[in-house]
Amino acid sequence: MTTPVASRLTRASLRTALLSPRRTLTTRTTSYTLNTGAKIPALGMGTFQDPDSQESTVALGLKKGIRLIDTARVYNVERQVGLGIKKSGIPREDIFLGTKLWCNNYHPDDVEGAVDESLADLGTGYVDLLLMHYPCTFKRGEERFPRDEEGRMVHGETDFVDTWRAMERVVGTGKVRAIGVSNFSKGEVERLIRESGTVPAVHQMEVHPYLQQKGFSEWLKEKGIHVIQFSPLGNMNDFYRQTGWSKKIAHMMRVIDQPILKEIGEKYGKSPVQVVLAWGINSGRSVIPKSVIEWQIEENLAADFELQPEDMARIATLDAKARFNDPSLDYEWRLYSDLEGIDGTVRGRTH
Ligand SMILES: NC(=O)c1ccc[n+]([C@@H]2O[C@H](COP(=O)([O-])OP(=O)(O)OC[C@H]3O[C@@H](n4cnc5c(N)ncnc54)[C@H](OP(=O)(O)O)[C@@H]3O)[C@@H](O)[C@H]2O)c1
Repeated sequence: MTTPVASRLTRASLRTALLSPRRTLTTRTTSYTLNTGAKIPALGMGTFQDPDSQESTVALGLKKGIRLIDTARVYNVERQVGLGIKKSGIPREDIFLGTKLWCNNYHPDDVEGAVDESLADLGTGYVDLLLMHYPCTFKRGEERFPRDEEGRMVHGETDFVDTWRAMERVVGTGKVRAIGVSNFSKGEVERLIRESGTVPAVHQMEVHPYLQQKGFSEWLKEKGIHVIQFSPLGNMNDFYRQTGWSKKIAHMMRVIDQPILKEIGEKYGKSPVQVVLAWGINSGRSVIPKSVIEWQIEENLAADFELQPEDMARIATLDAKARFNDPSLDYEWRLYSDLEGIDGTVRGRTH
């Protein structure tokens, strides 16, 4: 007896349905192994902005299956993140939690104290990952963005290699399980490797289809440094359209509106957002989209699926080398100096 569904299918459409990737598409839970031997999930969650929503959002994300949480001292949300973890009921040891040291705490004598403050707010005895947020050092003290009378950033004296050595020592206390960097240039990572005993476990940097950083990503992989993509959806965050850093560039077509991504998504029964995240995961990186909206969190969670090589190749054509996160002018420090996508700020006042 024919079922009502089968009776509606012609021979040709049945064949297409059977061969369609949708039929075999499974959502995965990919993880990678860091150079410390620890596992890190491919799919995580960012916590920059919306402090009032972060406690409930972190709890919700964890309950739905997210196991990688990215935060930072400078986001002012560590307390809410910690409460969210508790509220979720998910055991701490099942969660990969990372935070970042901010630039006013880079003096070697300040590093462990700053970690202690993060741990107290997060309500945990350790973090799985501590990142140096930027390579630039600001003046020591309470002020996160110390400025002079003219509003110019006041730098500190500390060299980031000395900060790194202090971070290595904190690993020895058990308060931090792995250390890494964020927003470093290739030359700066090379210096760390050359002048210290620890190859960073992670580089957290801006990567999305408009800024693919292919050469740098491959080089990091060769060195055993895992990449976590921040702003994985590109210019989705309104912050980039509002801040002076990104200027006009953030107003280019949103990454997720690119017709190629829609076409690819239709093939898999996935949205452009999911295709963008899957592209990062299929490239061997972790992605940490931020959202405080339940249906978006669910959509992001269902983004770990296999993309076929021809679709990866099509996404490769979107590499406009458009960098949205470049505070070089504000920080008075030439960031990303040997990397792609700095044209917008290269002629400004720099370090
Ligand atoms: N290391 C660094 O210097 C650095 C710099 C930037 C970011 N980060 C980290 O990376 C995380 C993510 O970066 P980001 O927030 O800049 O960029 P993003 O995650 O690429 O984009 C965030 C924006 O996308 C929206 N969104 C998320 N999922 C969506 C979906 N499924 N459909 C439609 N819209 C969606 C969010 O909306 P709603 O918020 O309205 O839900 C938000 O406006 C941050 O939270 C932070 O943890 C690190």
